[in-house]
Amino acid sequence: MSAPRETPAPSAAPLSTPARSAAPLSDPARSDLPPSAPERAIPQSAPPQIWTPDGDDLLLHGDNLAALEHLPDETMQLVYLDPPFNTGRTQQRRSTTSTRDPDGAYLGFQGTSYRRTVETLGRYDDTFLDYWGFLAPRLEQAHRVLRDDGTLYLHLDWREAHYAKVALDALFGRECFLNELIWAYDYGAKSRRRWPTKHDTILVYVKNPDTYYFDSDSVDREPYMAPGLVTPEKAARGKLPTDVWWHTIVTTNGREKTGYPTQKPLGVLRRIVAASSREGDWVLDPFAGSGTTAAAARDLGRRSVSMDANPEAVQVMSDRLGMPVTTLSDAQSIPSPATEAAPPELSQRRTSGPRPPR
Ligand SMILES: C[S@@+](CC[C@H](N)C(=O)[O-])C[C@H]1O[C@@H](n2cnc3c(N)ncnc32)[C@H](O)[C@@H]1O
Repeated sequence: MSAPRETPAPSAAPLSTPARSAAPLSDPARSDLPPSAPERAIPQSAPPQIWTPDGDDLLLHGDNLAALEHLPDETMQLVYLDPPFNTGRTQQRRSTTSTRDPDGAYLGFQGTSYRRTVETLGRYDDTFLDYWGFLAPRLEQAHRVLRDDGTLYLHLDWREAHYAKVALDALFGRECFLNELIWAYDYGAKSRRRWPTKHDTILVYVKNPDTYYFDSDSVDREPYMAPGLVTPEKAARGKLPTDVWWHTIVTTNGREKTGYPTQKPLGVLRRIVAASSREGDWVLDPFAGSGTTAAAARDLGRRSVSMDANPEAVQVMSDRLGMPVTTLSDAQSIPSPATEAAPPELSQRRTSGPRPPR
């Protein structure tokens, strides 16, 4: 599926010194950093090799589209993506945004049928087209770096999940759809004008339906709803989770709270990492935020690549994980999700107060 890549040049310096206080990058006010602060600028013109199979975990500051191009084909066992709804772009009709050249370098989306799908949806919903213009090339890259036995998890909500499923069917093939996970929580204000929206949707696709890795035995189990109906042994062991996961959000006074506004619970990521990767495997999160995926990966003995364009997120991750930061040289600051201005379409649709997880 993936286009051949040239062998990239080796990187300039190793990343070995952990920095608990690595900088909000490109912030001149942080001239108090020690000279040894392991922040490196990587020029983006010719992607150097900043990842190696036996290298250290990586924390990359920069636009994930550029960052993903640094990763070789078929190297990541698990890719988890939790993109923001608001990409910070002006919402406008762009009927050619997602059109792909069938002779282009990447063969992810499958030719004309994909193009027709996007154009049809674009006529239906401007917001989708703009959002998809942002997300589609990143999903193509995620698909490219996924190993043959690897799995992709795309975390969205009711606004985009249905569009994303159509698009992922086109990118992976319908036979590669594995699950639609519902993460249900119960927190915050509840609308009285409709059913309160208290779940996120996580779409799960495998690169190859014949060879994908999945280990249900390693997943934490849940209490039976009616333990009296099963044997005491079964009740004590608990049941396998289904595709609906009840899990509380990261509470404001919880132990795992980092202060990053869209932080996802470690329990949800641990389950994903445990089921879809082995010890020692590489796990990638291109929208890493507070670093929950990397934290789960580390707890479970996996290796991780985390990317984020927001210096605040990179700072939080560096503190949380005690990791050095690699900065892509033209990294631009993206505002924290908490301070992003919602597009008009989104503001108007909100009826029940802030939505805690996203
Ligand atoms: C919903 S948050 C992820 C939260 C994360 N799962 C956690 O548990 O903390 C989405 C993140 O994507 C980042 N982001 C948005 N656009 C990006 C881009 N083009 N490149 C890299 N990161 C981006 C934002 O800065 C934000 O931190």
